[in-house]
Amino acid sequence: MKAICQVRSLCLLYCFLFCIAFVNGATTIESVLKAKGDFSDIIDGASEAGILSLYNNPSATETVFTPNNTGLMNTLSDLNIGAIQALQLLQNHTLLKQLLLYGTVNESISVASLSSGTHHFPSMLGPNLTLVKNSTGAFVNDIPVIEEDVAAGSSEIQVIETLLIPPNVHIS
Ligand SMILES: *[C@@H]1O[C@H](CO)[C@@H](O)[C@H](O)[C@H]1NC(C)=O
Ligand SMILES: *[C@@H]1O[C@H](CO)[C@@H](O)[C@H](O)[C@H]1NC(C)=O
Ligand SMILES: *[C@@H]1O[C@H](CO)[C@@H](O)[C@H](O)[C@H]1NC(C)=O
Ligand SMILES: *[C@@H]1O[C@H](CO)[C@@H](O)[C@H](O)[C@H]1NC(C)=O
Ligand SMILES: *[C@@H]1O[C@H](CO)[C@@H](O)[C@H](O)[C@H]1NC(C)=O
Repeated sequence: MKAICQVRSLCLLYCFLFCIAFVNGATTIESVLKAKGDFSDIIDGASEAGILSLYNNPSATETVFTPNNTGLMNTLSDLNIGAIQALQLLQNHTLLKQLLLYGTVNESISVASLSSGTHHFPSMLGPNLTLVKNSTGAFVNDIPVIEEDVAAGSSEIQVIETLLIPPNVHIS
């Protein structure tokens, strides 16, 4: 009787662990950003623009440079964009796509493993991003990286202070 109980509880334990793994699914950029909790605006923007696949593909190997919600809000207020105008911008899917693709590189970049100096990486929008690593820290197009190398499966998230804006794209 005791043995049966032990087998049964072991079995329940395995079922439980399996269920957790199954429900959690694979780790993606989206799942890591959601777990961090302060990136809902970026996720909503990607969803709105129909390019959430950029963030939720478990087999992707990429790097996303993104501000948190506060950093995004700061970017908009630096550009003198108020709440109503921000909602209008959210409806411009062409613009949203440009912004999010510019912050994504189709390879995994570990800032810790980069040598000091200047590096160029092609954004998924096309234009290069310039990454500088020096004694002050790491910077992408002069924007400070405030949290380096957040792993998301085989991808990396680099949290930056404000939003990257592509050359020749005007937000207003
Ligand atoms: C949407 O964004 C694109 C690309 O930045 C811009 O060319 C276009 O004028 C914007 N459209 C509207 C309606 O603001
Ligand atoms: C990203 O890179 C992979 C291989 O490194 C390639 O197969 C894929 O087509 C690229 N995706 C885009 C959108 O460029
Ligand atoms: C991007 O950077 C790479 C590597 O430094 C360089 O070879 C390439 O010419 C650059 N591309 C553009 C469009 O500036
Ligand atoms: C490091 O690079 C950043 C961005 O280019 C620059 O603002 C900063 O002054 C540099 N720090 C040093 C010590 O050179
Ligand atoms: C969120 O971003 C802001 C602006 O970049 C930064 O000051 C703040 O420390 C970030 N919050 C967290 C929890 O990292």
